[in-house]
Amino acid sequence: MPTPPAPIAFVDLMAQQKRIRPQIEERFIRMLDHGAYINGPEVRELEEALCDFTGCAKALAVGNGTDALIIPIMAMDVTLNDAVFMPAFTYNATCSAVMIAGGTPVFVDVKANDFCMDPEDLERRIGEAKAKGLNPKLIIAVDLFGIPADYEAIFQVAEKHGLYVMADAAQSFGCKLNDRYAGNIAPVTGTSFFPAKSLGCYGDGGAIMFRDEKLWEACEQIRWHGTDSARRESVRPGMNGRLDSIQCAIVTEKLKIFGDELDRRAEIAARYNERLTGHFDPQDHGAGRESGWGYYTVAVDERDAVMARMKEDGVPTAIYYPQPLHTMKAFDRFAPEGGMPVSERLSGRVMSLPLHPYLSDDQVEYVCDRFLAAVERKNA
Ligand SMILES: Cc1ncc(COP(=O)(O)O)c(C=O)c1O
Repeated sequence: MPTPPAPIAFVDLMAQQKRIRPQIEERFIRMLDHGAYINGPEVRELEEALCDFTGCAKALAVGNGTDALIIPIMAMDVTLNDAVFMPAFTYNATCSAVMIAGGTPVFVDVKANDFCMDPEDLERRIGEAKAKGLNPKLIIAVDLFGIPADYEAIFQVAEKHGLYVMADAAQSFGCKLNDRYAGNIAPVTGTSFFPAKSLGCYGDGGAIMFRDEKLWEACEQIRWHGTDSARRESVRPGMNGRLDSIQCAIVTEKLKIFGDELDRRAEIAARYNERLTGHFDPQDHGAGRESGWGYYTVAVDERDAVMARMKEDGVPTAIYYPQPLHTMKAFDRFAPEGGMPVSERLSGRVMSLPLHPYLSDDQVEYVCDRFLAAVERKNA
């Protein structure tokens, strides 16, 4: 049986930790010395670093990627009569965030060639929502697997119907549209620092990034129980949405090596493209849309057999996502008649290959060999 040149991890956080361990230890000591576990200087430091990296006007560090969606939606004062459009093929948190913030989710199908919201279907769903008496208010575009959504087309639809656009960039920190980074593409962007994300902390974390500063003040208040700047009076309903000082320090240190890691992710993805294109359903992100390569995801026939064969050969793979949201118990009351055909088809075909900056060239070639062997059902 073939064996990898060295054990392959789907995501290797230990290799990264080794690289930055002295800096992280130094940060822990500094934090213990100043003792400001909450709202320490690291919070502002991270927020400024996020602005510097992405080009966004302002940033707020928050407790996790779900809060990074809930808080801006709350700041928009959405009500149950407001329709919030989102792809049916995404992580469940996108839909839960809308429901927690008090809006009504409306699912939109995705396109098979980029896994992201289909702007034509969006137009159709806006019409349906209006016909049902809902008030179309917000579009949440998800950059699935790191691929920036088709914002140019989505912005046009939004402008035509007077809707606000927010990005769920939980999987796409580092992606670009026409040379603008996620965080500085949509008016407001939420991202996640869950440890396995491309930019993660050592626990839960997230950030809201503002290209449009309009919602910043309300979000800043909501993050701290809805209080004014003196933290005395609640001026709106809020929550504990803060991110700990130590997590902010960790993300700040990781951001310093992020550009280098992103280059390596892109290099590996380019090699996968070179060797594997033609052996999975065709993909096309279109010009100007550069993935942050959160995941390398392909759609194949007989996925379970392909994954089982790769597992035997020591290559871990994963399915994101085996079920579209409109078929889940928590959300199926929002399922449209006729379903979401592309999302349903993708759920039965997608699989993700290992992709992290610490894969060696030999490991990358091995993944390619074993994928091709598994797909072609022969032992290479
Ligand atoms: C697309 C998407 N949105 C939101 C989230 C929520 O992020 P968190 O787990 O940090 O709350 C995730 C996390 O996996 C995600 O993938």
